[in-house]
Amino acid sequence: MEKLKIGIIGAGRIGKVHTETIIQNVPEAEVVYIADVNLDEAKNLAERFRIKNYSNNHKDIIDDTEINAVIICSPTNTHAQYIVEAAKAKKHIFCEKPIDLDLEIIENAIKVVEENNVKLMVGFNRRFDSNFKKIKQMVFEGKIGEPHILKITSRDPAPPSPEYSAVSGGMFLDMTIHDFDMARYIVGSEIEEVYAIAGVMIDEKIGEAGDVDTALITLKFVNGAMGVIDNSRKAVYGYDQRVEIFGSKGMLKVDNNAPDNHKYYSEIGVHASLPLNFFMDRYIEAYASEIDEFCQAIINDKPISVGGIDGLLAVAIGKAAKLSVNEKRPVKIAEIWNK
Ligand SMILES: NC(=O)c1ccc[n+]([C@@H]2O[C@H](COP(=O)([O-])OP(=O)(O)OC[C@H]3O[C@@H](n4cnc5c(N)ncnc54)[C@H](O)[C@@H]3O)[C@@H](O)[C@H]2O)c1
Repeated sequence: MEKLKIGIIGAGRIGKVHTETIIQNVPEAEVVYIADVNLDEAKNLAERFRIKNYSNNHKDIIDDTEINAVIICSPTNTHAQYIVEAAKAKKHIFCEKPIDLDLEIIENAIKVVEENNVKLMVGFNRRFDSNFKKIKQMVFEGKIGEPHILKITSRDPAPPSPEYSAVSGGMFLDMTIHDFDMARYIVGSEIEEVYAIAGVMIDEKIGEAGDVDTALITLKFVNGAMGVIDNSRKAVYGYDQRVEIFGSKGMLKVDNNAPDNHKYYSEIGVHASLPLNFFMDRYIEAYASEIDEFCQAIINDKPISVGGIDGLLAVAIGKAAKLSVNEKRPVKIAEIWNK
């Protein structure tokens, strides 16, 4: 059988991850093209994995009739445009989060995808982490009874570069967006209202650029559950990714993953390995499982589990959190998007 032919747009941090995971984990698919405005990045990635074609123009992928699917890994401000172009060229689309920072632009991109009858998957990779999948399934099975309190701790090891931040939409739409999606996914209910406080505690430059680096966000779910997300752009001990969900019949908890689970006991204390350092390590298996679902959904014409509407809702919740910080009040998601 002929392999699914894929073009990757954007050869930066996440473009490299997706290229490598497809090559290593999805034998039914083949990466045939890499495009990046920085030709050196495209060339380096293509040569590293012996990929035939590379270019500094994403149009070369869109116009290539051999290519069945594109993976959009370029900066956030390019996603919606590339989705529209790829959909019109009848290519299936995997797009990194967020789809865009503007809800109308997202709605339009989803509309064009539907009109052209192609698949769109949004890169909420944490849904594919085996630990989070397990607790989601157990919540669904009623193992903790009625969910009452969700707690998500999500702290990065270091803030991104100023160039990255400039087009990322800021912490809520770039980073917390994963936590908003996790909250909807694990509780299995929509978020009705958010109340957030945030500040700049790590780097003044982040504040000067109009962003925040530390936040606490409370969530109210439609099913009555409550949640809290705590974010920091800098945890000195590594990537801190923990989830706890408490309900009427018990509690479920996911701790950090470490490279090993040894413990060293000495006269001054007990020592263990630090958590895995960042997303490329912590979620490597999740990225593989995510991209496998995308490819298999195309090959077997199956539905995608995380699509355009999930991408849109996470952005709406992020905008509500921003507004909550600015106006120092709880904000209903319906104030932001009500369709
Ligand atoms: N799901 C995740 O875990 C995850 C992790 C990291 C990043 N992301 C998302 O992926 C996207 C890229 O992030 P990154 O960390 O890889 O960034 P990056 O800066 O490492 O890489 C972006 C690449 O895109 C290239 N580029 C810039 N403008 C372009 C254009 N117009 N067309 C094509 N290529 C262009 C750059 O040269 C660079 O090589 C962002 O939207 C980000 O939100 C998702």
